[in-house]
Parts: sequence; C-alpha cells; structure tokens
Amino acid sequence: MTVIMAHRGSSGTRPENTLPAFSEAVRAEADGIELDVHLTKDGALVVMHDEEVNRTTDGKGAIREMTLAEIKQLNAGSWFSKEYAAAKVPTLKEVLNLLVQKNFRGFLNIEIKTDKCPYPGIEEKVSKLMMSQVWPFTHWYSSFNLKSLEIMHQLEPKTQLDYIMGAAESKVKRAIECSFIEGIHPKIDWVREVGEAVQTFPKAVRPWTINESETMLACFEQKLTGIITDFPEKAVRLKRSLKK
Ligand code: G3P
Ligand code: MG
Repeated sequence: MTVIMAHRGSSGTRPENTLPAFSEAVRAEADGIELDVHLTKDGALVVMHDEEVNRTTDGKGAIREMTLAEIKQLNAGSWFSKEYAAAKVPTLKEVLNLLVQKNFRGFLNIEIKTDKCPYPGIEEKVSKLMMSQVWPFTHWYSSFNLKSLEIMHQLEPKTQLDYIMGAAESKVKRAIECSFIEGIHPKIDWVREVGEAVQTFPKAVRPWTINESETMLACFEQKLTGIITDFPEKAVRLKRSLKK
C-alpha cells in the first residue's frame, strides 16, 4: 500500500513547516510527515524549507547568518493567510514535542537541507537530538546531499536513509549502488519517464510533489512505496475511497 507523506506538513492547507501544518498532517492521518532542517548562526536546528527567511516570513536574511532569537521574532504564517499570524518558525525540538503531544505514530522524514548551504555539524546535532530519547514515531533521514546521508549512516547505522533527487540518472545509479540507501525520493517526472520500469526498481520509490488526484491515483495503481504531497487529507481520502 502506497504511504502518504505530508510534504512540509500539510503545506497545501497550512503555512509550510509550521506547527499548524504538522498538527493538520496528524489530524489528516498522514502516514508520514516530511520537514526540512537548517542550522542558525548560533547552532539551533530550525525547520524551514528555504535557506533564507524571505519567502515564508516577514523578515529578510539567511538562516545561517541569523540567531535563533532573531528568527523567533518572525511571523511565519501571515504570508500564507492572516489566520496564521501567530505561527513562528519552529525548532526541530518543538516539532518533535508537538508530535509527541499528538501521539503521532507514523514516520517522520527529516530532510537535512545541505544541498545549497553546507551547515557543518548539522548531521551530528540532528542525530544527537533524535537519539536523546525514544519517540512514539519512527524517524528517517533524507537529503539531496549524499555526503549528509553518509554521515548519518555512520552516526545511526540502523536508521532509514533516502536519497532525494530530480530526474537525474546519475543520482539514481548512485542510489542503487549505495547499500545504505533504502530508497529514492525523485521528482514525479522521473517516474513518468521510466514508465513500467519503476515496478522493478530495486529500492523504495516515493516521488514528490503529488498534489493532483489523477497523479495520486496513478501512483497508487503503480503501488509505489509512497507519495510526498502538500495535501495529505485529500490523498488519504482518495486512497481510502479505493478500498470501499
Ligand atoms: O522530500 C522531497 C522534497 O521535500 C524535496 O524537495 O525542495 O521540497 O525539500 P524540497
Ligand atoms: Mg524537503
């Protein structure tokens, strides 16, 4: 059965990578939640997609050049809707606390955002936090950067690791060759390009970003391991409707 992963939380219906987006993903009964992690100037792990705060907050600047206190001043919800003016940029710990409070039992896919900015030491910090206690959910790591996944493999040899990519064949080849990579998270275009060959792909395949019902249905039909979507409620409902 294809699992439904909420991309940046329920980012189609709530401001992405905020506590409201993660709460909504849990309420919608998504099987999994994906989020993106960066490191501030003072070494805090914060959850945001872009390297700069410009698009999803009322501030300006690069996360790596800002302190957590500066980032906490920002409004991370109003750009999406006035209703979410109270939303702040969460730390990874705050998201984990929320998921514990909600008794989330699915899987948390933590994307290490080191493809554009190196963030030395981010892997160790994330791993230290994740290994500091037992969680009610399962955590995985994913990244566009294979080096980050290699470091994660050294730190947590038993944790699932997935390689994110566009449609590049060279990355697909590397993922197949790399024994510690459990699966690939390609852009949906790659799944379309390979056609039926996806059925015999030797690793798990969870494409992004699947928002249209038609594409969701095609992925369910192909029995892909999972889909990554901005609309988890829609995907969960659609999947359940097929069982009736
Ligand atoms: O995990 C897949 C997806 O999150 C990768 O793209 O840019 O949304 O982090 P992006
Ligand atoms: Mg991501």
